[in-house]
Amino acid sequence: MCGIVGYVGHRDAADVVVEGLRRLEYRGYDSAGIALVHDGHVVARKRAGKLANLDKALADDPLPPAGTGIGHTRWATHGPPTDRNAHPHLGAGGRVAVVHNGIIENFARLRADLERDGHELRSDTDTEVAAHLLEAAVEAGSDLTEAMQQVCRRLEGAFTLVAIDGADPDRVVAARRNSPLVVGVGEGESFLASDVAAFIEHTRDAIELGQDQVVTISRDGVEVTDVDGRPAEAGSYRPYHVDWDLSAAEKGGFDWFMRKEIHEQPAAITASMLGRHDAQGALQLDELRISEEELREVDKIILVGCGTANYASMVAKYAIEHWTRIPCEVELAHEFRYRDPILTRATLVVAISQSGETADTLMAIRHARQQRAKVLAICNTNGSTIPRESDAVIYTHAGPEIGVASTKGFMTQLVACYLLGLYLAQVRGTKYGDEIAQIVGELEQMPAYVQRLLDASEQVHRLAEELSTARSVLFLGRHTGFPIALEGALKLKELAYIHAEGFAAGELKHGPIALVEDRLPVFCVVPPPGRDQLHDKMVSGIQEVRARGARTIVLAEDGDEEVAPYADDLIRLPRVPTLLQPMVAVVPLQLFACELATRMGHDVDQPRNLAKSVTVE
Ligand code: AGP
Repeated sequence: MCGIVGYVGHRDAADVVVEGLRRLEYRGYDSAGIALVHDGHVVARKRAGKLANLDKALADDPLPPAGTGIGHTRWATHGPPTDRNAHPHLGAGGRVAVVHNGIIENFARLRADLERDGHELRSDTDTEVAAHLLEAAVEAGSDLTEAMQQVCRRLEGAFTLVAIDGADPDRVVAARRNSPLVVGVGEGESFLASDVAAFIEHTRDAIELGQDQVVTISRDGVEVTDVDGRPAEAGSYRPYHVDWDLSAAEKGGFDWFMRKEIHEQPAAITASMLGRHDAQGALQLDELRISEEELREVDKIILVGCGTANYASMVAKYAIEHWTRIPCEVELAHEFRYRDPILTRATLVVAISQSGETADTLMAIRHARQQRAKVLAICNTNGSTIPRESDAVIYTHAGPEIGVASTKGFMTQLVACYLLGLYLAQVRGTKYGDEIAQIVGELEQMPAYVQRLLDASEQVHRLAEELSTARSVLFLGRHTGFPIALEGALKLKELAYIHAEGFAAGELKHGPIALVEDRLPVFCVVPPPGRDQLHDKMVSGIQEVRARGARTIVLAEDGDEEVAPYADDLIRLPRVPTLLQPMVAVVPLQLFACELATRMGHDVDQPRNLAKSVTVE
């Protein structure tokens, strides 16, 4: 969702801000704007549409040189994506400019108060009230930091606000509540942004801020306070060093970030395993801040997440229950707290989130912690809110995921879930050491298996070419193949904008089989033979859809000949244990969605209507 950049320093602020916005484009947006402090005034440009429109406006009417500025990419909430509603928004006299991410819930009341006092608001946004309030405060004699503190005390909702004052070229001031903001610390310069990608080419030293904090950046450094103006307590914000560099945030020769990220999966799996087991295969999750004793007391696990993270949770349930015998529930994060879940001190809530900023998941973990449950985050983004508000965290170390469609994020969420399950089994003694070591050994093979599938992308690309006019595609799976069917369908919906649905194959005859018609493409994820009767039942399901005219695209492991006669197209998967099969089965489905959307001429990295981090509920 919205992307925010703030800068003060020795460089040209317009360059830094616009380049920063370009690196945040992946978050999803529909308008963009910039404001600078020049010669005692604020100067601003903003345009609906993509950054190219803002680039053109800046080329037609260049901004003057400045060392202080803010910028914004907007994902519309209040008011349509127009020039007028684009950020920055200015106060009544144009002295203060503000950019904002989130929703100010009491904006209607504040707006009515302002209008009663004679303020004329020019946009439909909730943001503009903050600009007017801030400007009124600096006009009344406060500095911008004090003004921000005062205004934040009046605002309700979730927001990141970043502001400049035309009369004060030496500072940019920001505040955050339930919305992302990180600080970048350079030599004689400082940065603010929704995430570190915006300033990674200038500095890798960052600060994650706490809740309800106000930060003032200048050429000399950074000051953090609470909204009452008290200096922030040590430990309430955290300096850290970003462990990836600019090259990770660039396409590296691929046409899309998504394709690059699919191809980065072998390395991402390796990075996620690194240092997490010893030479004998015993798990060591040193970063876990929950004691072994507490883990032994867990009597229920609830896995929460949204979208792809929810499908990772579904896979995790199969593995964790099997290895630990602890009952697991899987819950969509946005449904979780509204159904009054039963939570006790012995409940472990596992929150899965690539971005660490998904508002629905954040609210779910807050509810869980209020009820005294322990919360463990599985997250890919250092410095983000969800791990910070959790009792424990397993970072997935996939590197930045920029394509809106999650791929290596999902893959490494699976790795983290497996590691967690095995660790619990080790601590609670529900698996022998050699059994755990064997599964760890199989996980270690995964990068090579995934690489083999990537090397065979051509087959999937040909399929995408043949199916480029399909209007509907179904995905079937059983057991851990069921969440993979759902994930395959989600990727296609997101990227190709066509009807795609995933089903548990056993459910077919209870309704969905009515959808099957002549030449309908149906992807079928076949479990390895030997797991009870799962395999045979899946083969029956494939026969049933084929008998009704479907084109069956079957994903089955090497050597599975039984299924071959019923496959119009057969994609071979490396032989792996059933519980780990999602790691290989998902790869052709990711490649297919990426390629099909490319052939359809869609923007694969920034699909319509979607945002990478969904920071509003
Ligand atoms: C995945 O392709 C999606 N873009 C989406 O479902 C995503 O997984 C979901 O919004 C959760 O995001 P998170 O992992 O950052 O919390």
